[in-house]
Amino acid sequence: MITFKFYCFLCLLLATVMLSSGGRLVKADAFPVGGGMVPAMFIFGDSLIDNGNNNDLNSFAKANYFPYGIDFDGGPTGRFSNGYTMVDEIAELLGLPMIPPYSQASSSKEQTIHGVNFASAAAGILDITGRNFVGRLPFNQQIKNFENSLDQITDNLGAGDVAQMLSQSLFFVGMGSNDYLNNYLMPNYPTRNQYNGQQFADLLSKEYTTQLTKLYNLGARKFVLAGIGRMGCIPNIIAHGTNGRCSEDVNQLVLPFNENMRTMINNLSTNLPGSKFVFVNVDNMFQDLLSNARSYGFRVVNRGCCGIGRNRGQVTCLPFQTPCPNRREYVFWDAFHPTEAVNVLMGRKAFSGTPDFVYPINIQQLANIP
Ligand SMILES: *[C@@H]1O[C@H](CO)[C@@H](O)[C@H](O)[C@H]1NC(C)=O
Repeated sequence: MITFKFYCFLCLLLATVMLSSGGRLVKADAFPVGGGMVPAMFIFGDSLIDNGNNNDLNSFAKANYFPYGIDFDGGPTGRFSNGYTMVDEIAELLGLPMIPPYSQASSSKEQTIHGVNFASAAAGILDITGRNFVGRLPFNQQIKNFENSLDQITDNLGAGDVAQMLSQSLFFVGMGSNDYLNNYLMPNYPTRNQYNGQQFADLLSKEYTTQLTKLYNLGARKFVLAGIGRMGCIPNIIAHGTNGRCSEDVNQLVLPFNENMRTMINNLSTNLPGSKFVFVNVDNMFQDLLSNARSYGFRVVNRGCCGIGRNRGQVTCLPFQTPCPNRREYVFWDAFHPTEAVNVLMGRKAFSGTPDFVYPINIQQLANIP
C-alpha cells in the first residue's frame, strides 16, 4: 500500500512536470539553481538560434507570430521554428534553464546568471550582411551587447568570480549562413563580383577569427562553433531551380567556409592559450539526415511545412498561415529553417555525438573539462 502510494505520488509528480512543459520533460525544472554541467552558456548567431532578439527591432526578419512556436510551450517567441531550436536542446541537456534573449534579459542576477542569447535573425559575420531586412544585430554588435551584459554580471559577482565563471561557461557561436543567403547570393549585393567562393570564405574566416579572439580576450575559453548546413537543399534554394532538387552550385559555394572552419579552429586553439574549440559539423548532420530520412522518421525532406509557392519555399511562413499537421515528419519548418524535430536531433548529436558530427570532442566532453 505504501509502495503503491509512493509510486502514485511519483506518477502525479511526473504528470505535473510533463503537463507544465507541454509534454516535454524540462530538465531545468529538475535541477536546483547552479545544477547544470557548466555555469552558463552565451549564445551568438542568426535566425537558426535567435529566440526573440529581433522582436522589437524595426526589421523584416521576425518570427514572433503564429504559427511560429506552434509546438512551443508559450507559443510564438521569435524562434524561427515550430518549437525548440538546437541551442534550446543543448541547454536542456546541459541542465541549464531556458537562456533568455538579450532583449529581454534584465540586469538582475537571476536573469543572466546562466547565460544570455545574443543571436539575431538576418545577422552575419560581416556587418553589411542582411541589410535587405533593415534591423538585425550583426556579430560585431552581438559582441558589444555581450560586453554590456558583462559589466552588469561583474557588478553582481565581482571581477574574480566572473573570470572564473566565464572560463567554465560555453560560448556557442553559429554564424555564416546569412553571409551567403543574404549577401553573396543576393542580386542587389556586389559581393559575388568581387570575390570567388574561396576568396569569400577566406574573407569570412579572417573576420571570424578576429571576432572570436575578441570573445577570448573578454574571458571566453570553451567555444562551440556551428558550421553551415546543406544550404543548397533548403526549400527556398530548391524553389529557385526547376527540377525540385538540391542546388549543387550552392552546396559547392559554402564548402570552403566549412573547410576553413577546421583550419581556423586549429589556428585559434594554437594561438589562444587555454582555449578549447569544438566544431559542430551541421553539414554532415544534414547529409546523414537527408540520406537516412526514413529511419529518423522523416517523410518530407524537400519542402517547408509552412510556406507558399514551389516547394513551399518561395515565400516563407506568413502570419496565421496554416502549417502542415504532421510536423514531426518534415525536415524543414519553413523556407529556410529546420523543424523542432531536426533541431532536437542535431542538438543531441552535438552534445554526445561522434567526431564525424562534432570535432575533436563533443559538447558533453567539452563541458566536463575542468
Ligand atoms: C591558419 O593559420 C595560417 C598560418 O598563420 C594562415 O596562413 C591561414 O590563413 C589560417 N587559416 C584560417 C582558415 O584561419
